[in-house]
Amino acid sequence: MPQTERTSIVSGFYKLPIEKRREFVTQFSNLTQEDLKSFSSGLDLATADRMIENVLGTFELPLGVAVNFLINKKDYLIPMATEESSVVAAASNAAKIARVKGGFSTISSKPLMIGQLQVLHVKDVVSAAQNIMQHKTQLLALANAQDKILVDFGGGAKDIEVRILDSPLGHMIVVHLIVDVRDAMGANAVNTMCEALAPILEEITAGNVRLKILSNLADKRLVKATAIFDKEKMGGDSIIDAFLESYTLASIDPYRAATHNKGIMNGIDAVIIATGNDFRAIEAGAHAYAARTGLYTSLTTYHKNKDGDLVGEIELPMAVGVIGGAANMHPKAKLCRKILGISTAQELAEVVASVGLAQNFAALFALSTVGIQKGHMSLHAKNIAVMAGAQGEEIERLADQLVQDGKVKLDYAKILLEKIRKKS
Ligand code: MEV
Repeated sequence: MPQTERTSIVSGFYKLPIEKRREFVTQFSNLTQEDLKSFSSGLDLATADRMIENVLGTFELPLGVAVNFLINKKDYLIPMATEESSVVAAASNAAKIARVKGGFSTISSKPLMIGQLQVLHVKDVVSAAQNIMQHKTQLLALANAQDKILVDFGGGAKDIEVRILDSPLGHMIVVHLIVDVRDAMGANAVNTMCEALAPILEEITAGNVRLKILSNLADKRLVKATAIFDKEKMGGDSIIDAFLESYTLASIDPYRAATHNKGIMNGIDAVIIATGNDFRAIEAGAHAYAARTGLYTSLTTYHKNKDGDLVGEIELPMAVGVIGGAANMHPKAKLCRKILGISTAQELAEVVASVGLAQNFAALFALSTVGIQKGHMSLHAKNIAVMAGAQGEEIERLADQLVQDGKVKLDYAKILLEKIRKKS
C-alpha cells in the first residue's frame, strides 16, 4: 500500500492481511528489516529469565495498531497489546471522529514523582516538621548525590514537602521528596533517594523512619487531553444529549464510574503494555486520582460547546518511561516506541491520555446508541465459529450467519456448521 503523505488515516485497515498492515506500518514509521523481524519473534528466554524469577516461558498477547490518531497536529499509529476484542477498532473510530475538528490536544506537567518517608515516634511533630524544612537544602543534596546522571540530564530531587497525619498510632510525619525523573518511570531513582534520606531524617526528627517508597498517586505528573467530537459525525444533537446523559451517571455514581474508568483503562493499559511500562502503577494512579475529592468519579468530563459539538477531556497521572525497566529490555516495547515515533516520556504520556479519551468516547458513543454488544459480536462470533470446529473460509461464513441470526452461541454454531457442510 503506497503512502503519498505520512498520515495515520487509513480506511479498511482491518480488512488487510497482516503482511499488508505490516507494510503500512513499516512505511509510516520507517521500520527496518530487523524491526520487522521483531513482530514475529517473542521475548527470548534468557531475557525473560533476567526479568523475573522462576521463569518457565513467556506469555503472549495480540498486538494491534490503532489508526487515525492526530495528536497536537502530529499523526500517530498507536500499538496496543490487549486480549479484548473491539478495543483497537473502537479507539481507531473515535480518533477518526476527533480528527474532523483537529484531533487531540494535550498538555502535561513536568515528570515529577513523589517519594514518601514515614517518620514515627516523634515527640513534637510540629517542631520536627519545621526542623526538616530547615534542612531542605542538605536533604536535596544528599538525594541528588544518589543519581548524578539524572541530575546531569536536568532531573533530580527538586523539593521537599512535609505532612503531619493523625493515625490510630498517634501523629506521624510524612515527608514527600519531589523528584524530576525525566524520561524514566522513576521508581528506582526515587526509592534509592528515599532510602538514602532515612538515616538523616531519623537524626533530624529523633524519630524512626518506617516506609521509604514511591507514591503511585503521581499527582504532580499529570496529563490532560481534550478533543472536540463533531456533532454531524456523531449523528446529531439528540445523540450528543444521550451521550451526556450516559456520562452523567459516571460523574455521580462510583458503581458506574468504575466501569466507565475501566473502559478508559482498556485503551491506556494496552499502550502501556505495548511500550513496556508498568500498567499496575498507571492503574493505581488513575483510580486514586479518580477518588481525589473523596467521591470516586469519572476520569473524563464532557460538555456541549456553542456549536453543539461534544467536547471531551481527560486528566490523570501518567508515570511512564521510555528508558529503564522492561521498556529497555523487551524487543517489542522498543519496536512499539519506534512505531509511535516518540522519544520522551512526556510525549508518550500525552499519547496515552489521548487514547484513554478516545476509548472512553467510543464506549459511551456505542452505549448511548447501538449498545456495546453489536461491536463485540462479530469477533466473538469468529471465536465461537472456531470453537464449533469451523476451518478456513468456513469461519467467516459461519460467524456472519451467527451474527445475522442473532444467536452467537456454541450449540447453535455446531448445528449451523453441520448444515453448511452438508450444503457444500
Ligand atoms: C468493557 O471492557 C468496557 C465498557 O464496559 C466501558 C463502559 O461501560 O464505559 C464498555
